[in-house]
Amino acid sequence: MKKGLFISVEGIDGAGKSTHVNFICEYLESKGKTVVVTREPGGTPLGEQIRNLLLHSTNMHHNTELLLMFASRQELIEKIIFPNLKDGICVVADRFVDASLAYQGAGRGLGMAKVKQLINLLEPGLTTDLTFLFNVPLSIAVNRIAKNRNKDRIEEENEDFFTKVQNAYLDIAKAQPDRMKVINTNRLKSETRNEIIQHLDYLLDKQNDAPL
Ligand code: TYD
Repeated sequence: MKKGLFISVEGIDGAGKSTHVNFICEYLESKGKTVVVTREPGGTPLGEQIRNLLLHSTNMHHNTELLLMFASRQELIEKIIFPNLKDGICVVADRFVDASLAYQGAGRGLGMAKVKQLINLLEPGLTTDLTFLFNVPLSIAVNRIAKNRNKDRIEEENEDFFTKVQNAYLDIAKAQPDRMKVINTNRLKSETRNEIIQHLDYLLDKQNDAPL
């Protein structure tokens, strides 16, 4: 049996990522796929408790933040991602390891090497088949975040932080263009959706052509 597709969705806060997660799931379902959607940090009972710590604690050390992100992720991988992929079910992840590289590695300044060490230590073989990087000019994202009255601990960060995060995401996309697709969300939603469909169709065709 073919393994399920693993797709993740990334972008800085305010880039419009969440709007498109549902669309991706609906489109895959319309093509006959069974889909499970996850979110990080969180996505499991223990992971949601860790999410609460991550987003609402005060005065957390950056290394603690990094380790908690990976603790939450480990639960998700073992309890949701691996079992579903093994059963041929598609997993659409609202954030995965690229978020740790961009936010903790670059945004917090912990460095890519440290984050990559954790990736290699925990689940070296697990990479996404496709990652969408939703991207808007920083000023638009920052404006959207500013309008949100219930900002979490990470959304409280300044423009300099989000510049580093966004640049790191774009660097990853440049280095891995086959896996990570940059999607400009500063335009009509229908245009964004058409681009998403093209990438999904390509991936679905590739999966159909692959030997069993
Ligand atoms: P987010 O997807 O923005 O949740 P929501 O859309 O519900 O607000 O994720 C919450 C925050 O967690 C976001 O600011 C990015 C941050 N984050 C990291 O810093 N590192 C990570 O590895 C992950 C998965 C998320």
